Amino acid sequence: MAKPKKAAKAKAKAASKKPARQVLKLRAKKPAAKAARRIGPSRPSAKPWGQAGRALDGVRILDFTHVQSGPTCTQLLAYMGADVIKVERPGVGDITRTQLRDVKGADSLYFTMLNGSKRSITIDSKHSKGREILDRLVKACDVLVENFAPGALDRMGLTFAHIHKLNPRMIVASVKGFGPGPYEDCKVYENVAQCAGGAASTTGFRDGPPLVTGAQIGDSGTGLHLALGIVAALYQRQRTGRGQKVLCAMQDGVLNLTRVKLRDQQRLKHGPLTEYSQYGEGIQFGAAVPRAGNDSGGGQPGWILKCKGWENDPDAYIYFITQAPVWGAICDLIGRPEWKSDPDFATPPARLPRLKQIFAAIEQWTMTRTKFEVMETCNQHDVPVGPILSMKEIAEEQSLRATGTVVEVDHPTRGPYLTVGNPIKLSDSPPDVRRSPLLGEHTDEVLREVLRYSAKEIADIKASGALSAAEKKAEAA
Ligand code: COA
Repeated sequence: MAKPKKAAKAKAKAASKKPARQVLKLRAKKPAAKAARRIGPSRPSAKPWGQAGRALDGVRILDFTHVQSGPTCTQLLAYMGADVIKVERPGVGDITRTQLRDVKGADSLYFTMLNGSKRSITIDSKHSKGREILDRLVKACDVLVENFAPGALDRMGLTFAHIHKLNPRMIVASVKGFGPGPYEDCKVYENVAQCAGGAASTTGFRDGPPLVTGAQIGDSGTGLHLALGIVAALYQRQRTGRGQKVLCAMQDGVLNLTRVKLRDQQRLKHGPLTEYSQYGEGIQFGAAVPRAGNDSGGGQPGWILKCKGWENDPDAYIYFITQAPVWGAICDLIGRPEWKSDPDFATPPARLPRLKQIFAAIEQWTMTRTKFEVMETCNQHDVPVGPILSMKEIAEEQSLRATGTVVEVDHPTRGPYLTVGNPIKLSDSPPDVRRSPLLGEHTDEVLREVLRYSAKEIADIKASGALSAAEKKAEAA
């Protein structure tokens, strides 16, 4: 009896030592933890929710972005309260102002829907005076965001070393097509990234070519990634006092969104992908992840099924998920209660080789109802389904207007238009969704209020041709 007592004592002693070491470790970490706590005021604001300003109030962004990827990022930051100053080429502006134009003489929806809540200033970045103004902007801003072709920013003289020297707190955020490596100098657009990031090879039907998706995962997806990187860098700057480079390659962004397919690529080594319908159809898998049609990317099999009216309406379809916990409810709904106990259908593994047969039976039922009727009935039984909503239906959907996800804004030259508001809802930071600026609309305002140029200096700048295309020609001549 004495021995176990001794052993227990020794154990207790050892155990009592462990926490002591842990305490020491915690103590060692304390200064860092304290420093983190010092960021911002120590007491919570007493202001009512939504009246304590916006999340990014006080952050000023030098927005050198164009087309879609970069503008997506800066628009989101503007919605969250950042002061976004978009620098555009005099007389031309962002190329999308005139692309896909639907209203003669007015900025296109391509532009207006990606540049809301920003200010626009025109500066010729290759003009000596223009360079001087840009340097002043660098000093006055917190973040520079750009998505030029590789090397373009450096060719303007805005190397990271130059920027960092002028303003060590500046965060320089870039979208590029590819990260460092063999393709780093390539220009890239949306679909190039969808293909190079692995999305296209895994999208579409097995017997068809690779397919790109309508969702702009290369452009808007990478813009979203960049916004997160910028906010993280701003947070780190609170501790370090210095800016840094933030780089998002479109290939990387697309791959991040296609990660489930890289998961499947590794699973292939261990056998067929049983949730892919080609498994049930007895078709061999090759060396790479195949296109999976409308198979669900997760562990719950799903497919797109016809609904009432599909003969005339291309969107009369619904995505139906045969989630295991509600299998019984599905069997009852579609009039196949016997499948609940039939060993060929009762368990998820038994169903995997029979998915085609199962979805054909469910479709017989969905075809008797509209997609909205199917949704209503299924949701009563917790069966997850997704009606295929057309863009017309989304534009008219009142609940999306109510939440501010779809917003109507007015525009001086094109009239009212719909835009996508902030999809990220912050309970203490109401979104600031306003129309896009006209080309150079805020040039004077920014020179005067942000850069503190006097009226005389502004007149001189204008005369120099640094802000206007026509005068630039005069300078060249
Ligand atoms: N004043 C004077 N010149 C200006 C200017 C200004 N205010 N703003 C831009 N420019 C010039 C740049 O200096 C550059 O000139 P340079 O090539 O002589 O140095 C040029 O305009 C911009 O070039 P670039 O970015 O190559 O435009 P592009 O239309 O040829 O290419 C992309 C467009 C999108 C293919 C390219 O910018 C790119 O690959 N970007 C990175 C990836 C990306 O974001 N792609 C998605 C876009 S949605």
